[in-house]
Amino acid sequence: MRIPIIAGNWKMNKTRDEALRFIYEVNRAMPDVSEVETAIFAQSVHLRCLVKRQGDNLKIGSQNVHYEESGAFTGEVSPIALKELGVTYALIGHSERRSYYNETDESVNKKIHKALRHTLRPIVCVGEVLSERESGKTFEVVERQTRLALEGLTSEQMDEVVIAYEPVWAIGTGKTATPKMANETCSDIRNIVEKLFSKEVADKVRIQYGGSVNTGNIKELMSMEHIDGALVGGASLDELSFIELVNVAKEA
Ligand code: 13P
Repeated sequence: MRIPIIAGNWKMNKTRDEALRFIYEVNRAMPDVSEVETAIFAQSVHLRCLVKRQGDNLKIGSQNVHYEESGAFTGEVSPIALKELGVTYALIGHSERRSYYNETDESVNKKIHKALRHTLRPIVCVGEVLSERESGKTFEVVERQTRLALEGLTSEQMDEVVIAYEPVWAIGTGKTATPKMANETCSDIRNIVEKLFSKEVADKVRIQYGGSVNTGNIKELMSMEHIDGALVGGASLDELSFIELVNVAKEA
């Protein structure tokens, strides 16, 4: 039995006051939701004040983490600094970071190793672009990204890893992969994990879907066998919408 995880990726949005108000409202509306795990990925500058409001259920994550602990990497964020703050999750390999900031399969793998070393739990993003989907290369792309991302990890380390399947063409476009399409690729990813590790690891690993998830489509997505939650951008910015996403996931 996999506990679903609904995570909001705020990207470069929200002021400190808006962020604090959101967390306050969410904690008030769902003081204890043990059937679903929730997380919010906020901008680095807001992490310090948000982690103080982290509860048993709502966790706070960083949108990035560097693969070195310290050094001459202007503008980057160290895993040690994140851990010191009390951050729980680190988002790694989001498609926006892959396309705008040269994140590669190799750096994604290094970041996962380093995050785990500092007991940050990685949510690792994989997903194809539109031309890859249209030319029938989805499996090939997702297989490569998953295999290279998870290279060198042990089965025990996989207990801490969440995978997010985010087809790039569905991010921020209003175009969601149909639940069937999303489920098929999440199932493919589970099979890849089985080949790399074992059936036991594959049965346990949580695989989220991300890409234009909202309160109108979450129910059907969550009813799919291989979808264990959602990584949500736009629809996670409003607290009522986020709370509804969590409540629907709770019932799925
Ligand atoms: P949207 O939900 O806005 O499509 O964004 C998805 C995403 O990139 C989450 O990481």
